[in-house]
Amino acid sequence: MRLEQEEKDMLEGKHGKAAQKSMEILTTLGEIFDAERMIDVYGVQIAGVSYANLGEAGLEFLTEMAEDGKVRVLTTLNPAGMDRENWQALGIDKEFAKNQNRAIDAFAKMGIITTCSCTPYLIGNAPHYGQHIAWAESSAVCYSNSVIGARTNREGGPSALAAALTGKTPNYGYHLDKNRHGQILVKVNAPVKGTDEFGVLGKIIGDKLVELGKKIPYITGISSASVEELKSFCASVATYGGTALFHMEDVTPEYNKYPKPNEIIFEIDQNELNSARTELIDDDLEIDFVSIGCPHASIHEIANLANLLQGKNVKKEFWITTARPTKRIADEVGYSKIIEDAGAKFAADTCCVVAPIKGRFKGIMVDSAKACYYGRAKNKFKVKIGSIEECVAEAVK
Ligand code: F3S
Repeated sequence: MRLEQEEKDMLEGKHGKAAQKSMEILTTLGEIFDAERMIDVYGVQIAGVSYANLGEAGLEFLTEMAEDGKVRVLTTLNPAGMDRENWQALGIDKEFAKNQNRAIDAFAKMGIITTCSCTPYLIGNAPHYGQHIAWAESSAVCYSNSVIGARTNREGGPSALAAALTGKTPNYGYHLDKNRHGQILVKVNAPVKGTDEFGVLGKIIGDKLVELGKKIPYITGISSASVEELKSFCASVATYGGTALFHMEDVTPEYNKYPKPNEIIFEIDQNELNSARTELIDDDLEIDFVSIGCPHASIHEIANLANLLQGKNVKKEFWITTARPTKRIADEVGYSKIIEDAGAKFAADTCCVVAPIKGRFKGIMVDSAKACYYGRAKNKFKVKIGSIEECVAEAVK
C-alpha cells in the first residue's frame, strides 16, 4: 500500500502505541483487500460493545488501546448489553453491569461518545452523501451506504476502533464506485407499508440474494418509504442477505448513478409477502415479552407509541429500545411519562438482542424481522412479527 508520511509515522509508533497498533490493523486489511491507499473517514461507529460479546479478552484489548489512544474523528458506539441508567429495572445482574461499565469507560477514555445506538444517523453521527465513514453495525452500514449514499464497508470491532484512532480506512470495497453497482433487479408488485412489512420484504430479498450468491439488489416498485421503514428494511436485508448496499428506484440517492441490472430479475407479489410473514410467526406461541425499537426507535416511533399507549395498561414485559438522546427528547416532551405510566419500559443504550436475556422469556412479539431472527437464534425465544399497533394490542391484552 502507498502510505502518506503521517500514516508511515503512525505505523512506526511516532503517534503512540494505540495509533501504531491501529495502523497495523488497517494496513493488514488493506493488503488483504488490495487497497492502494488509505482514505480519511468523517466518522466511525463501533460494534461489539456488549460485554456479552467482548468478554475479558475484548476488554483487555480495549484497555490496552485506551492507555494512549485518542479518537481523531466523531465516533459513537453500538448498543451495549444494558441500559446504563435503568439496568436494575430491566433485570440485569450486578456483575454484568460492572463489567459492561468497565468496557464503556475504556471507550470513553479514548474520546468516544458513549451513546450506544445502532441508529447513529438519528442522533448526530450523520454523514452526508458521498462521505467516507467506517461503521460496524450491519443495519447502519446498509442504511448509510444505501439511504444516505455515504460509503463504508462493514467493519469489525477492531478495524472500526483502528479507524477511529487514526481517522483512516483502507480504500477498497464499498468505498469504490466499481463495487456499488446493482447486481439483481427486484420488482415488488405489491404495496408495502409499515416497519414490519418492510422487514418481511427485507427477509425475502435477503434470502434470495443468498440463494443467488449476490449482494446488491436494485429494487423497483416501492413508491415511497419513511426513515423508519427503511431502517427496518436495512436491518432485515442485512441480517438475512448480508447486504450492505441496495438501490431503490426513486427512493435512494444512487439508484440512477450506475447501470440498472437486467440479467437477473426477481419478482415479489402479495403471496410471497404473506408466506414470508408466516415464516416469522412460530407455532404454539405464548407471548410474554413485547419489544419495539429494532433498529433503535426514532422519536417519531416513540410519539406513535405514546399515542397508542395513552391511558392503557400493559400486561406483559414491554421494552422500547432506543438511543439515550432520543429518550431524553421523549422525556422532555412528555412521551416517556405516558409510556411509563402505561407500564412499558424504556431500554435505552441496549436492545432485546444484545441484552443478556436468553431464556428469560418464552415468546417475543416485535415489529422487526431482524429481531425475529436473533430472538430465535440467540435468545431461544419463539417469535411473532406484527405492526406496532398489533404489538401494542398484544401487550395490553
Ligand atoms: Fe439495533 Fe439491536 Fe436491532 S443493535 S438493529 S436493535 S438487534
